[in-house]
Amino acid sequence: MYDWLNALPKAELHLHLEGSLEPELLFALAERNKIALPWPDVGALRGAYAFNNLQEFLDLYYRGADVLRSEQDFYDLTWAYLLKCQAQNVIHTEPFFDPQTHTERGIPFEVVLRGIKQALVDGEKQLGISHALILSFLRHLSEEQAFDTLQQALPFRDAFVAVGLDSSELGHPPSKFQRVFAKARSEGLLCVAHAGEEGPPEYIWQALDLLKVQRIDHGVRAIEDERLMQRIIDEQIPLTVCPLSNIKLRVFADMRQHNILEMLERGVKVTVNSDDPAYFGGYVSENFAALHEGLGMTQEQAGRLAQNSLEARLA
Ligand code: HPA
Ligand code: ZN
Repeated sequence: MYDWLNALPKAELHLHLEGSLEPELLFALAERNKIALPWPDVGALRGAYAFNNLQEFLDLYYRGADVLRSEQDFYDLTWAYLLKCQAQNVIHTEPFFDPQTHTERGIPFEVVLRGIKQALVDGEKQLGISHALILSFLRHLSEEQAFDTLQQALPFRDAFVAVGLDSSELGHPPSKFQRVFAKARSEGLLCVAHAGEEGPPEYIWQALDLLKVQRIDHGVRAIEDERLMQRIIDEQIPLTVCPLSNIKLRVFADMRQHNILEMLERGVKVTVNSDDPAYFGGYVSENFAALHEGLGMTQEQAGRLAQNSLEARLA
């Protein structure tokens, strides 16, 4: 790894805590919770990390999250991620958590939130890493289920700053959640949404106009729509781009095809993030390194990308 990449102070703005569950911790939690796993060992699980699209990844991601049962499990998951942040000079993080992945399995909302939040608070005190937590709705579930989740979350309103939208994009446009996001905004919450990862530019327009998001997560397909490009440049709407994720999920055939530096040079406020680092081969610095190796990103460009991440924070 390059020391100059670790040395850059940066913020991570697109990270699914459940996607930071490394195979070693996954096996340890399975043992702690007496859960039988379908993989004989860590190596076999890592070997299963080959995906043709977003859905194939999500199937494994939800399966892996099943080992998370107790408040301590969620604490340990979050703490392990924060130690990676410390090692890579990530000074601020805005992680997502997916409550429905857990409440659907009978884990109480407050068990999930308490474990995560306690680790984030300890990370702030002991590691000096500030945070803003984002509650993300699963878009393959119904509008009613999202409303239900928001209702469960409101007693803990002060623990998070925004709502997000993730999971299977195609067939689940932002418009499906227009009313839930309006309710969240009425409670003073900010909004972000995954859009334009596998879905068309139209989904990015909807995220902006219907959900009134502050940022677009991924958004790489914006480049297919010149009018949309002009808008995100004019309004400086940040895109939280995840290069290694995009290659692992075949959004681009290889890193040399990735459009993040083209966007950067056109004046788009793009940032570099890890998405699901345990599954996609690395944390923020590994994503920067992949851009250096695959796209020839210069130190000057890395500096601007890191600066964008600090400016695109919600909190
Ligand atoms: N896209 C959509 N949903 C997700 C992702 C992603 O990259 N990672 C975890 N949930
Ligand atoms: Zn994501």
